[in-house]
Amino acid sequence: MGNPLPSDRKKVTVGTIRSLYKKKEPITVITAHDFPSAHVADAAGMDIILVGDSLAMVALGMEDTSEVVMEEMLLHCRSVARATKAALIIGDLPMGSYEIGPDQALESAIRFVKQGRVHGVKLEGGAEMAPTIKRITSAGIPVLAHIGLTPQRQNALGGFRVQGKTADGALSVLKDALAVQEAGAFAAVIEAVPAPVAELITNKLNMPTIGIGAGSGCSGQVLVQVDMTGNFPPGRFLPKFVKKYGDVWSESFRAIETYRDEVKSRQYPAPEHTYPISQEELAAFEKAVDSKE
Ligand code: KIV
Repeated sequence: MGNPLPSDRKKVTVGTIRSLYKKKEPITVITAHDFPSAHVADAAGMDIILVGDSLAMVALGMEDTSEVVMEEMLLHCRSVARATKAALIIGDLPMGSYEIGPDQALESAIRFVKQGRVHGVKLEGGAEMAPTIKRITSAGIPVLAHIGLTPQRQNALGGFRVQGKTADGALSVLKDALAVQEAGAFAAVIEAVPAPVAELITNKLNMPTIGIGAGSGCSGQVLVQVDMTGNFPPGRFLPKFVKKYGDVWSESFRAIETYRDEVKSRQYPAPEHTYPISQEELAAFEKAVDSKE
């Protein structure tokens, strides 16, 4: 058990992330969508907890991330914030809450901090989002950029496609990275980009990159918790970059199935799961019930 309990950990700030980056220590990021998933991520020593809009698909059963709305994100951010004692919490601005312009984005980011109780926001997009990132960071709200594959734009990208696979494509990801850095982002998620491209881009920046499907040359890594803990039924599609570190679904399934069988067979609840009553009180109760018949 290498990691200290959350109560022993110092609060992670953007400054902590910066110093991990300077020390070349990999930055650990995981999603959490509710109180229990945030609790375990924080206790396990994650540096950053991301309330990702993957919430839409993995926790709310929606078709894609475009469906989730501000109020839903805020509700889940609040529950994550209640469980998180040390990690830096970043909330994902949902589609429609920031693209109209910097003012709309700042308004949404302020709601995330005031009502969602997060420490910063993430938004998707590169060079075209630079003025928006500048506006939010100028108001004192840290921004985690998200470049490469941007799932909210999957309709324009033609699906979940690897980005930066050609020299021109890779240059365009680099241009985005430099623009979001210049605009004041404290770090950038780089999603689904060939590993050597992500590494080269990382080396050209002076802010951390957080890779997802972008290889080990990034400054840190992020995974969706439901995916990496295996909290989904067998047969579900998993992107190539996901490593399944657990089998939470099978363990939950086994426990619930056993509970069902024990209820059906009256093995549960056993005497140790019940509350006692003295013989005298029980006898008095039985007498009272009899007398009412
Ligand atoms: O929504 C999300 O969970 C994300 C991460 C996968 C980076 O954007």
